[in-house]
Amino acid sequence: MREPLLIEFGTYVCAQGRDIDETASPAYVLFSAEIFAEMQQELQGILRRDRDTFTPEALQTEVAAGIRHFQGCWFQRIDFPAQNLSTVSDRNWVLFDEGGVNTLGGRLTSEDACLLRPWPKWLYVRPLLPDLSDKTIMEVGCANGFFPFRFAELGAKHVTGVEFQRRRHESSVWANEILGWKNLEFKHADFLVDYTIEPHDIIFVSEVVNHMLCPFWGLTRLVALAKEMLILDTGVFESPQHTMELSTGWMPDGKTFSFLSFQISDGLICSYLKLLGLRADEIVKFVEPGAGHILYRINTKQLHERRANGELPENQRRSLTVNLSLPR
Ligand SMILES: C[S@@+](CC[C@H](N)C(=O)[O-])C[C@H]1O[C@@H](n2cnc3c(N)ncnc32)[C@H](O)[C@@H]1O
Repeated sequence: MREPLLIEFGTYVCAQGRDIDETASPAYVLFSAEIFAEMQQELQGILRRDRDTFTPEALQTEVAAGIRHFQGCWFQRIDFPAQNLSTVSDRNWVLFDEGGVNTLGGRLTSEDACLLRPWPKWLYVRPLLPDLSDKTIMEVGCANGFFPFRFAELGAKHVTGVEFQRRRHESSVWANEILGWKNLEFKHADFLVDYTIEPHDIIFVSEVVNHMLCPFWGLTRLVALAKEMLILDTGVFESPQHTMELSTGWMPDGKTFSFLSFQISDGLICSYLKLLGLRADEIVKFVEPGAGHILYRINTKQLHERRANGELPENQRRSLTVNLSLPR
């Protein structure tokens, strides 16, 4: 794992790797200027490879026909290196929406972010992951499967991707027929209500909780299902206050729903996690300063041990077991 840098963040002042405020969680910068320069090189390398390896013949192949079949639902770039193709090889396949954090705080152009998404995210997520070789890992809200494919490449023991939009789910299943990962399973499910979803060692979730109809229920489920670690990557208000705002998007007819997005403050997220029984030192924050973006790496292992040992009050124990998770 990369050696993290300390950060002064809002009222949470850190020194020598230890919080001055004992009640606060440790906070680090998500990536420094030097690390960004390395990330930028890697990302430009991907775009350069696109240009260098592109051949019009590749667009006539069966794999290209398969990508075209899912045209309009490629929210993420999926690469097929053996075929010299990706889901952005033809500009008509690209969804020109950079998403929330893929410009890395405005450092990438919107066009590059759209062509790469979510490679920019992956470059800050990758160094924060533990060794996956003996871990089961699940991504909730995996869209076209980009992150599950990366986890499989890193040698995870087993990978699950959950997505509730049918076409996106089908596109990930199709992509894996080409890529051929055997220890990878995509599930078409609404994570909030599907209790057949099993706990995994690590749960990864990026820019999903804020789009859930019940974000706090989502957080509760995520913590309950993460046996060891929850990696929660999300847009936030960088504030210790308890605030929350809702934005919704509607089609021009004014009646047809398009999207919802909650913006929750860091203070409210941390207080809620505390209500679930997590200690401040079990929540480590990686902050993109000024960008309204925090990745939380949450150690859930001891929480489950405290629960199993009866150390939590009954109402906290029950909220993690009886109500929102599989009976054990
Ligand atoms: C903004 S996209 C982020 C995709 C991906 N995590 C990334 O970072 O590129 C959110 C995804 O989560 C999915 N999603 C939202 N709520 C979900 C739920 N309750 N169960 C399963 N998938 C969900 C959406 O359909 C969408 O594909």
